[in-house]
Amino acid sequence: MDKTYNCIDAGSKYCPCNLANTMNCISCSHLAGEDFCDCSWNGVCILYEYYMNNKQYSDFKKTYRGIVIGKVFLDKNLILLKIKLDKKLLNELNTIGSYVFIRKVNCSNYYDTPMSIFNIDEDYIYIVYQEIGPKTKNIQCEEELSIRGPYWNGIIGEHKLSKVSNSNILIIVRGIGQSSILIPLNKLIKRNNKVVLFLDKGKLNSLYCLNYISDKNIRIEMLDLFSSEGEKKLIDFIRENPIDVVLSAGSEMLHRNVTAIVKESRKDIKIFVTNNNILCCGEGICGSCTRKIDSGERIKTCKTLIDPKQMY
Ligand code: FES
Repeated sequence: MDKTYNCIDAGSKYCPCNLANTMNCISCSHLAGEDFCDCSWNGVCILYEYYMNNKQYSDFKKTYRGIVIGKVFLDKNLILLKIKLDKKLLNELNTIGSYVFIRKVNCSNYYDTPMSIFNIDEDYIYIVYQEIGPKTKNIQCEEELSIRGPYWNGIIGEHKLSKVSNSNILIIVRGIGQSSILIPLNKLIKRNNKVVLFLDKGKLNSLYCLNYISDKNIRIEMLDLFSSEGEKKLIDFIRENPIDVVLSAGSEMLHRNVTAIVKESRKDIKIFVTNNNILCCGEGICGSCTRKIDSGERIKTCKTLIDPKQMY
């Protein structure tokens, strides 16, 4: 039986990676020490590439310098940073689900903290984060930051959400999940998708994403997703509307609730969720992001494309 998951980096310039060299490739069973092939062919044979390159593997993602150009305090401990970045990295980050690891320049890489790209333009990335622990404390006081990337699996799904077109999409957002939805919104609208946004500020006092949503055609519903009234509204909406895709952007509890509702009411809907796992290396090596899936296998969520219904 073909694998039910794949590597988000497969076929990119970052493939084959060091995991091929250690026989831990996510996509290629031969490069994971097996003597059979169970990859769902995606146009690139990683094994072939690996041997044709004399078993050379791609470098790890690089660390760049980012210059902090501006900051906005959106709420207590909630900060937006505008960061000028290398053009090459900007281009690679301009996609749905992109994230980077950020730390202060004079800190060791133990301080690398993963952050979603909230917004992007020709010269800058924008991130919105909560200052809550040793990794994020006083990042906003720095003029320069170390930024490692690009990483792309900030939104987990069986396929890339960026490929979805001509569909009806429901984006369900709660709290800090707002930091992950602006790029998806803008890109999905451009691909002729109809988007409805269910928005809950959760534990935050700010609905900051609204200040950056310019398309007036997006239907936005405010609600408390964890109240019985909000949950009923969500269930009714999913049952009564021709939704093709749901994106859940929020906590693990939100992902579990949304996945349960979809599984019970409309199994044909494709689900995507924001990646809330603990990410340390982003390269499939450290194991901090490992999750057990229904089959009993363990996957590295920093790099694995997988249907979230197998995890929630
Ligand atoms: S973050 Fe290290 S293996 Fe995924």
